[in-house]
Amino acid sequence: MQAILEHTSFDVQAIRHQFPVLNRMVKGKPLVYFDNAATAQKPKVVIDALTEYYENYNANIHRGIHSLAEEATAAYESTRDTVQQFINAKYREEIIFTRGVTESVNLVAYTYGRTNLKAGDEIIISGMEHHSNIVPWQLIAAQTGALLKVIPVDDNGELIIEEFHKLLSEKTKIVSLVHASNSLGTINPVKEIIDAAHKVGAVVMIDGAQSTVHLDIDVQELDCDFFAISSHKVYGPTGIGVLYGKKELLEAMPPFMGGGEMIKDVTFEKTTWNELPYKFEAGTPSIADTVAFKAALDFVSSVGKATARKHEDELLHYATSQLESMNDIRMIGKAKHKVSVASFVVEGVHPQDLGILLDNQGVAVRTGHHCTQPLMNRFGIPGTTRASFAMYNTKEEIDVMIAALNKAIKLLK
Ligand code: ALA
Repeated sequence: MQAILEHTSFDVQAIRHQFPVLNRMVKGKPLVYFDNAATAQKPKVVIDALTEYYENYNANIHRGIHSLAEEATAAYESTRDTVQQFINAKYREEIIFTRGVTESVNLVAYTYGRTNLKAGDEIIISGMEHHSNIVPWQLIAAQTGALLKVIPVDDNGELIIEEFHKLLSEKTKIVSLVHASNSLGTINPVKEIIDAAHKVGAVVMIDGAQSTVHLDIDVQELDCDFFAISSHKVYGPTGIGVLYGKKELLEAMPPFMGGGEMIKDVTFEKTTWNELPYKFEAGTPSIADTVAFKAALDFVSSVGKATARKHEDELLHYATSQLESMNDIRMIGKAKHKVSVASFVVEGVHPQDLGILLDNQGVAVRTGHHCTQPLMNRFGIPGTTRASFAMYNTKEEIDVMIAALNKAIKLLK
Protein backbone atom coordinates (compact mmCIF):
# COMPACT_ATOMS: atom_id res chain seq x y z
CA MET A 1 0.00 0.00 0.00
CA GLN A 2 2.80 2.34 0.95
CA ALA A 3 4.51 1.63 -2.39
CA ILE A 4 1.33 2.37 -4.36
CA LEU A 5 0.80 5.63 -2.53
CA GLU A 6 4.39 6.65 -3.15
CA HIS A 7 4.03 5.84 -6.82
CA THR A 8 0.78 7.68 -7.41
CA SER A 9 2.08 10.74 -5.59
CA PHE A 10 4.94 11.13 -8.06
CA ASP A 11 4.28 14.09 -10.35
CA VAL A 12 6.93 14.05 -13.05
CA GLN A 13 5.76 17.37 -14.53
CA ALA A 14 6.19 19.08 -11.17
CA ILE A 15 9.72 17.67 -11.02
CA ARG A 16 10.48 18.81 -14.58
CA HIS A 17 9.43 22.39 -13.77
CA GLN A 18 12.30 22.52 -11.29
CA PHE A 19 14.92 21.91 -14.00
CA PRO A 20 15.26 25.02 -16.20
CA VAL A 21 17.41 23.33 -18.84
CA LEU A 22 14.65 20.89 -19.70
CA ASN A 23 12.76 23.74 -21.40
CA ARG A 24 15.40 24.29 -24.04
CA MET A 25 15.36 23.29 -27.66
CA VAL A 26 18.20 21.43 -29.38
CA LYS A 27 18.45 21.60 -33.17
CA GLY A 28 14.91 22.95 -33.24
CA LYS A 29 13.50 20.07 -31.16
CA PRO A 30 12.62 19.89 -27.45
CA LEU A 31 15.57 18.50 -25.54
CA VAL A 32 15.32 14.86 -24.52
CA TYR A 33 18.13 14.43 -22.04
CA PHE A 34 19.11 10.78 -21.62
CA ASP A 35 22.74 11.27 -20.60
CA ASN A 36 22.15 11.28 -16.87
CA ALA A 37 24.78 8.65 -16.10
CA ALA A 38 27.36 11.12 -17.45
CA THR A 39 25.94 14.00 -15.47
CA ALA A 40 22.48 14.86 -14.19
CA GLN A 41 20.84 18.22 -14.85
CA LYS A 42 20.52 20.68 -11.96
CA PRO A 43 17.34 21.78 -10.24
CA LYS A 44 16.72 25.48 -9.62
CA VAL A 45 17.48 25.09 -5.90
CA VAL A 46 21.03 24.02 -6.74
CA ILE A 47 21.54 26.86 -9.22
CA ASP A 48 20.12 29.31 -6.67
CA ALA A 49 22.43 28.02 -3.92
CA LEU A 50 25.44 28.72 -6.15
CA THR A 51 24.25 32.24 -6.98
CA GLU A 52 23.30 33.01 -3.42
CA TYR A 53 26.72 32.01 -2.17
CA TYR A 54 28.51 34.31 -4.60
CA GLU A 55 26.01 37.14 -4.15
CA ASN A 56 25.82 37.06 -0.37
CA TYR A 57 28.61 35.34 1.49
CA ASN A 58 31.58 34.47 -0.71
CA ALA A 59 34.54 34.09 1.65
CA ASN A 60 37.27 31.61 2.40
CA ILE A 61 36.42 29.01 5.01
CA HIS A 62 37.97 27.92 8.33
CA ARG A 63 40.31 30.91 8.21
CA GLY A 64 38.55 34.22 8.77
CA ILE A 65 36.81 35.57 11.83
CA HIS A 66 34.65 37.99 9.88
CA SER A 67 30.94 37.36 9.34
CA LEU A 68 31.15 36.27 5.72
CA ALA A 69 33.85 33.72 6.54
CA GLU A 70 31.74 32.37 9.39
CA GLU A 71 28.67 32.07 7.17
CA ALA A 72 30.62 30.38 4.39
CA THR A 73 32.23 27.96 6.86
CA ALA A 74 28.89 27.11 8.44
CA ALA A 75 27.31 26.43 5.03
CA TYR A 76 30.26 24.33 3.88
CA GLU A 77 30.30 22.28 7.08
CA SER A 78 26.55 21.89 6.96
CA THR A 79 26.95 19.97 3.69
CA ARG A 80 29.19 17.55 5.58
CA ASP A 81 26.38 16.91 8.07
CA THR A 82 23.91 16.37 5.23
CA VAL A 83 26.24 13.89 3.49
CA GLN A 84 26.77 12.08 6.78
CA GLN A 85 23.02 11.61 7.14
CA PHE A 86 22.53 10.82 3.45
CA ILE A 87 24.83 7.79 3.63
CA ASN A 88 24.42 7.11 7.35
CA ALA A 89 28.08 7.51 8.29
CA LYS A 90 28.81 7.12 11.98
CA TYR A 91 31.01 10.20 12.32
CA ARG A 92 30.94 13.50 10.41
CA GLU A 93 34.75 13.46 10.17
CA GLU A 94 34.48 10.34 8.03
CA ILE A 95 33.20 12.59 5.23
CA ILE A 96 36.10 13.95 3.17
CA PHE A 97 35.34 16.38 0.37
CA THR A 98 37.14 15.61 -2.87
CA ARG A 99 36.57 16.63 -6.48
CA GLY A 100 34.60 13.45 -7.12
CA VAL A 101 34.91 9.70 -7.41
CA THR A 102 38.10 9.85 -9.48
CA GLU A 103 39.91 11.85 -6.82
CA SER A 104 38.45 9.69 -4.05
CA VAL A 105 39.79 6.49 -5.60
CA ASN A 106 43.17 8.12 -6.21
CA LEU A 107 43.26 9.32 -2.61
CA VAL A 108 42.74 5.80 -1.28
CA ALA A 109 45.16 4.27 -3.78
CA TYR A 110 47.93 6.79 -3.05
CA THR A 111 47.54 6.86 0.72
CA TYR A 112 46.07 3.57 1.95
CA GLY A 113 47.34 1.60 -1.04
CA ARG A 114 50.87 2.95 -1.14
CA THR A 115 51.28 2.52 2.62
CA ASN A 116 49.80 -0.93 2.99
CA LEU A 117 50.64 -2.81 -0.22
CA LYS A 118 53.84 -4.74 -0.80
CA ALA A 119 55.14 -6.97 -3.57
CA GLY A 120 52.93 -10.00 -4.09
CA ASP A 121 49.85 -8.50 -2.42
CA GLU A 122 46.69 -8.52 -4.50
CA ILE A 123 44.09 -5.92 -5.39
CA ILE A 124 40.79 -7.20 -6.75
CA ILE A 125 38.69 -5.08 -9.10
CA SER A 126 36.05 -6.20 -11.59
CA GLY A 127 35.72 -6.42 -15.34
CA MET A 128 33.10 -3.69 -15.37
CA GLU A 129 35.10 -0.95 -13.67
CA HIS A 130 35.29 2.60 -14.96
CA HIS A 131 38.83 3.61 -15.90
CA SER A 132 38.92 5.68 -12.71
CA ASN A 133 38.74 2.48 -10.69
CA ILE A 134 41.34 0.68 -12.81
CA VAL A 135 44.14 3.13 -13.59
CA PRO A 136 44.87 4.37 -10.02
CA TRP A 137 45.28 0.74 -8.93
CA GLN A 138 47.53 -0.03 -11.89
CA LEU A 139 49.71 2.94 -10.94
CA ILE A 140 49.92 1.82 -7.31
CA ALA A 141 50.50 -1.82 -8.30
CA ALA A 142 53.43 -0.70 -10.45
CA GLN A 143 54.91 1.23 -7.51
CA THR A 144 54.41 -1.44 -4.86
CA GLY A 145 54.73 -4.71 -6.78
CA ALA A 146 51.13 -5.62 -5.95
CA LEU A 147 49.07 -7.54 -8.50
CA LEU A 148 45.73 -6.61 -9.99
CA LYS A 149 43.13 -9.39 -10.21
CA VAL A 150 39.88 -9.00 -12.12
CA ILE A 151 36.46 -10.54 -11.41
CA PRO A 152 35.07 -11.61 -14.79
CA VAL A 153 31.70 -10.54 -16.17
CA ASP A 154 29.18 -12.94 -17.75
CA ASP A 155 27.15 -12.47 -20.94
CA ASN A 156 24.33 -10.76 -19.06
CA GLY A 157 26.72 -8.21 -17.62
CA GLU A 158 26.75 -9.68 -14.12
CA LEU A 159 29.83 -10.45 -12.06
CA ILE A 160 30.74 -14.14 -11.90
CA ILE A 161 30.70 -14.25 -8.14
CA GLU A 162 32.12 -17.78 -7.87
CA GLU A 163 35.22 -16.45 -9.63
CA PHE A 164 35.48 -13.64 -7.09
CA HIS A 165 35.47 -16.18 -4.28
CA LYS A 166 38.20 -18.11 -6.08
CA LEU A 167 40.33 -14.96 -6.49
CA LEU A 168 39.96 -14.01 -2.86
CA SER A 169 42.80 -15.18 -0.59
CA GLU A 170 45.05 -14.10 2.25
CA LYS A 171 47.02 -12.19 -0.38
CA THR A 172 44.03 -9.93 -1.12
CA LYS A 173 44.55 -6.59 0.59
CA ILE A 174 42.11 -4.34 -1.28
CA VAL A 175 38.89 -4.95 -3.19
CA SER A 176 37.69 -1.95 -5.17
CA LEU A 177 34.39 -2.35 -6.89
CA VAL A 178 31.73 -0.39 -8.71
CA HIS A 179 28.34 -0.47 -6.98
CA ALA A 180 26.34 0.10 -10.18
CA SER A 181 27.92 -0.10 -13.62
CA ASN A 182 27.86 3.13 -15.63
CA SER A 183 27.88 1.22 -18.94
CA LEU A 184 25.48 -1.61 -18.16
CA GLY A 185 23.47 -0.48 -15.16
CA THR A 186 24.25 -3.73 -13.29
CA ILE A 187 23.86 -3.42 -9.52
CA ASN A 188 26.56 -5.54 -7.94
CA PRO A 189 26.08 -7.64 -4.79
CA VAL A 190 28.44 -5.44 -2.83
CA LYS A 191 27.35 -6.58 0.61
CA GLU A 192 28.25 -10.20 -0.15
CA ILE A 193 31.59 -9.07 -1.58
CA ILE A 194 32.38 -6.81 1.39
CA ASP A 195 31.62 -9.55 3.92
CA ALA A 196 33.74 -12.10 2.07
CA ALA A 197 36.64 -9.65 1.64
CA HIS A 198 36.60 -8.81 5.34
CA LYS A 199 36.93 -12.49 6.21
CA VAL A 200 40.37 -12.51 4.57
CA GLY A 201 41.30 -9.16 6.13
CA ALA A 202 40.98 -7.04 2.95
CA VAL A 203 39.51 -3.55 2.89
CA VAL A 204 36.78 -2.69 0.39
CA MET A 205 36.31 0.49 -1.58
CA ILE A 206 32.97 1.04 -3.32
CA ASP A 207 32.61 3.35 -6.33
CA GLY A 208 29.20 4.90 -5.74
CA ALA A 209 29.25 7.20 -8.80
CA GLN A 210 26.12 5.66 -10.31
CA SER A 211 24.48 4.12 -7.27
CA THR A 212 24.22 7.08 -4.91
CA VAL A 213 21.48 8.83 -6.86
CA HIS A 214 19.33 5.71 -7.27
CA LEU A 215 19.88 3.44 -4.26
CA ASP A 216 19.67 3.95 -0.54
CA ILE A 217 23.20 4.06 0.74
CA ASP A 218 23.93 3.04 4.31
CA VAL A 219 27.69 2.74 4.75
CA GLN A 220 27.34 1.28 8.23
CA GLU A 221 25.03 -1.45 7.03
CA LEU A 222 27.21 -2.15 3.99
CA ASP A 223 30.24 -2.08 6.29
CA CYS A 224 32.37 -0.86 3.36
CA ASP A 225 35.69 0.70 4.31
CA PHE A 226 35.58 3.45 1.68
CA PHE A 227 32.75 4.81 -0.46
CA ALA A 228 33.09 7.39 -3.24
CA ILE A 229 30.49 9.85 -4.51
CA SER A 230 30.35 12.47 -7.28
CA SER A 231 27.94 15.33 -6.62
CA HIS A 232 27.18 16.02 -10.27
CA LYS A 233 25.53 12.63 -10.74
CA VAL A 234 23.24 13.41 -7.81
CA TYR A 235 21.88 16.65 -9.34
CA GLY A 236 24.64 18.70 -7.71
CA PRO A 237 27.51 20.74 -9.17
CA THR A 238 30.55 19.28 -10.89
CA GLY A 239 33.95 19.38 -9.21
CA ILE A 240 32.81 18.24 -5.80
CA GLY A 241 32.41 14.78 -4.32
CA VAL A 242 33.02 12.69 -1.29
CA LEU A 243 35.29 10.06 0.06
CA TYR A 244 33.70 8.27 2.99
CA GLY A 245 36.22 6.26 4.98
CA LYS A 246 36.07 4.44 8.29
CA LYS A 247 37.54 6.72 10.91
CA GLU A 248 40.22 4.34 12.15
CA LEU A 249 41.48 3.79 8.60
CA LEU A 250 41.49 7.50 7.72
CA GLU A 251 43.31 8.28 10.95
CA ALA A 252 46.07 5.80 10.14
CA MET A 253 46.47 6.95 6.53
CA PRO A 254 49.04 9.57 5.53
CA PRO A 255 47.75 12.75 3.87
CA PHE A 256 47.14 12.84 0.12
CA MET A 257 47.99 16.41 -0.84
CA GLY A 258 50.06 18.83 1.20
CA GLY A 259 49.18 22.48 1.64
CA GLY A 260 47.15 24.83 3.76
CA GLU A 261 44.37 23.54 6.01
CA MET A 262 45.66 19.97 6.22
CA ILE A 263 48.39 20.84 8.74
CA LYS A 264 48.51 21.37 12.48
CA ASP A 265 52.01 22.81 12.76
CA VAL A 266 54.62 23.51 10.13
CA THR A 267 58.31 24.07 10.68
CA PHE A 268 61.04 23.52 8.13
CA GLU A 269 62.07 20.46 10.11
CA LYS A 270 58.72 18.82 10.65
CA THR A 271 55.05 19.16 9.88
CA THR A 272 52.18 17.61 11.79
CA TRP A 273 48.75 16.93 10.36
CA ASN A 274 45.40 18.44 11.10
CA GLU A 275 42.65 16.25 12.51
CA LEU A 276 40.06 14.51 10.34
CA PRO A 277 38.53 15.43 7.97
CA TYR A 278 40.80 18.40 7.32
CA LYS A 279 43.93 16.27 7.01
CA PHE A 280 42.64 15.32 3.58
CA GLU A 281 41.32 18.71 2.47
CA ALA A 282 44.38 20.72 1.43
CA GLY A 283 43.89 24.15 -0.07
CA THR A 284 40.82 26.27 -0.65
CA PRO A 285 38.07 23.90 -1.72
CA SER A 286 35.23 24.42 -4.16
CA ILE A 287 33.11 26.17 -1.52
CA ALA A 288 30.12 27.26 -3.61
CA ASP A 289 29.85 23.82 -5.19
CA THR A 290 30.00 22.14 -1.81
CA VAL A 291 27.27 24.40 -0.46
CA ALA A 292 25.09 23.72 -3.52
CA PHE A 293 25.73 19.98 -3.17
CA LYS A 294 23.70 20.15 0.05
CA ALA A 295 20.82 21.68 -1.89
CA ALA A 296 21.03 18.76 -4.33
CA LEU A 297 20.97 16.13 -1.57
CA ASP A 298 18.06 17.89 0.16
CA PHE A 299 16.25 17.95 -3.16
CA VAL A 300 16.73 14.19 -3.66
CA SER A 301 15.62 13.51 -0.09
CA SER A 302 12.52 15.69 -0.52
CA VAL A 303 11.45 13.69 -3.58
CA GLY A 304 12.42 10.42 -1.92
CA LYS A 305 14.82 7.97 -3.51
CA ALA A 306 12.32 5.12 -3.41
CA THR A 307 9.75 7.23 -5.23
CA ALA A 308 12.21 8.36 -7.88
CA ARG A 309 13.57 4.86 -8.25
CA LYS A 310 10.13 3.40 -8.93
CA HIS A 311 9.64 5.91 -11.72
CA GLU A 312 13.13 5.31 -13.14
CA ASP A 313 12.60 1.53 -13.04
CA GLU A 314 9.41 1.96 -15.04
CA LEU A 315 11.28 4.04 -17.59
CA LEU A 316 14.00 1.40 -17.81
CA HIS A 317 11.53 -1.44 -18.34
CA TYR A 318 9.58 0.54 -20.91
CA ALA A 319 12.70 1.57 -22.83
CA THR A 320 14.12 -1.97 -22.69
CA SER A 321 10.95 -3.54 -24.07
CA GLN A 322 10.71 -0.92 -26.82
CA LEU A 323 14.36 -1.38 -27.79
CA GLU A 324 14.15 -5.17 -27.68
CA SER A 325 11.22 -5.13 -30.06
CA MET A 326 13.30 -3.33 -32.70
CA ASN A 327 15.17 -5.22 -35.41
CA ASP A 328 18.96 -5.26 -35.26
CA ILE A 329 19.17 -3.93 -31.70
CA ARG A 330 21.12 -5.90 -29.13
CA MET A 331 20.95 -4.91 -25.49
CA ILE A 332 24.30 -4.93 -23.70
CA GLY A 333 23.73 -5.56 -20.01
CA LYS A 334 20.79 -7.71 -19.02
CA ALA A 335 21.44 -8.05 -15.32
CA LYS A 336 18.56 -8.93 -13.04
CA HIS A 337 19.19 -5.88 -10.87
CA LYS A 338 19.92 -2.67 -12.72
CA VAL A 339 19.83 1.07 -12.27
CA SER A 340 18.17 2.98 -15.10
CA VAL A 341 20.76 2.50 -17.83
CA ALA A 342 19.85 1.04 -21.23
CA SER A 343 22.92 0.27 -23.32
CA PHE A 344 22.63 -1.20 -26.78
CA VAL A 345 24.29 -1.74 -30.10
CA VAL A 346 22.69 -1.58 -33.52
CA GLU A 347 24.22 -4.25 -35.74
CA GLY A 348 26.19 -2.65 -38.56
CA VAL A 349 25.94 0.89 -37.19
CA HIS A 350 28.68 2.75 -35.33
CA PRO A 351 27.39 4.17 -32.04
CA GLN A 352 28.90 7.57 -32.78
CA ASP A 353 27.00 7.93 -36.08
CA LEU A 354 23.83 7.00 -34.24
CA GLY A 355 24.54 9.52 -31.48
CA ILE A 356 24.97 12.35 -33.98
CA LEU A 357 21.69 11.56 -35.73
CA LEU A 358 19.86 11.30 -32.41
CA ASP A 359 21.26 14.68 -31.37
CA ASN A 360 19.93 16.12 -34.62
CA GLN A 361 16.52 15.14 -33.30
CA GLY A 362 17.10 16.66 -29.88
CA VAL A 363 17.93 13.37 -28.13
CA ALA A 364 21.08 13.40 -25.97
CA VAL A 365 22.58 9.97 -25.34
CA ARG A 366 26.16 8.92 -24.72
CA THR A 367 27.97 6.77 -27.24
CA GLY A 368 31.35 5.07 -27.06
CA HIS A 369 33.16 3.00 -24.48
CA HIS A 370 31.94 5.07 -21.51
CA CYS A 371 35.42 4.92 -19.94
CA THR A 372 35.07 1.14 -19.60
CA GLN A 373 37.23 -0.10 -22.46
CA PRO A 374 38.02 -3.50 -20.90
CA LEU A 375 34.28 -4.12 -20.51
CA MET A 376 33.65 -3.22 -24.15
CA ASN A 377 36.47 -5.59 -25.14
CA ARG A 378 34.78 -8.29 -23.07
CA PHE A 379 31.67 -7.89 -25.24
CA GLY A 380 33.74 -7.58 -28.43
CA ILE A 381 32.34 -4.16 -29.30
CA PRO A 382 33.90 -0.70 -29.68
CA GLY A 383 31.16 0.88 -27.62
CA THR A 384 27.44 1.18 -27.08
CA THR A 385 24.71 3.76 -27.35
CA ARG A 386 23.57 4.46 -23.81
CA ALA A 387 20.33 6.01 -22.65
CA SER A 388 20.34 6.68 -18.92
CA PHE A 389 17.25 7.95 -17.13
CA ALA A 390 16.69 10.37 -14.28
CA MET A 391 13.62 11.15 -12.20
CA TYR A 392 12.58 13.95 -14.61
CA ASN A 393 12.42 11.75 -17.72
CA THR A 394 9.15 10.49 -19.18
CA LYS A 395 7.78 7.64 -21.27
CA GLU A 396 6.87 10.18 -23.95
CA GLU A 397 10.55 11.06 -24.21
CA ILE A 398 11.36 7.38 -24.69
CA ASP A 399 8.84 7.32 -27.54
CA VAL A 400 10.66 10.29 -29.08
CA MET A 401 13.97 8.41 -28.78
CA ILE A 402 12.54 5.26 -30.36
CA ALA A 403 11.10 7.23 -33.29
CA ALA A 404 14.43 9.06 -33.67
CA LEU A 405 16.28 5.74 -33.58
CA ASN A 406 14.08 4.24 -36.28
CA LYS A 407 14.70 7.27 -38.47
CA ALA A 408 18.46 7.23 -37.83
CA ILE A 409 18.81 3.49 -38.46
CA LYS A 410 16.96 3.82 -41.78
CA LEU A 411 19.42 6.51 -42.84
CA LEU A 412 22.50 4.61 -41.69
CA LYS A 413 21.71 1.13 -43.01
N1 ALA B 1 31.46 8.14 -16.00
C1 ALA B 1 30.55 8.99 -16.69
C2 ALA B 1 29.71 8.23 -17.67
O1 ALA B 1 29.49 7.08 -17.51
C3 ALA B 1 31.20 10.18 -17.28
O2 ALA B 1 29.26 8.80 -18.64
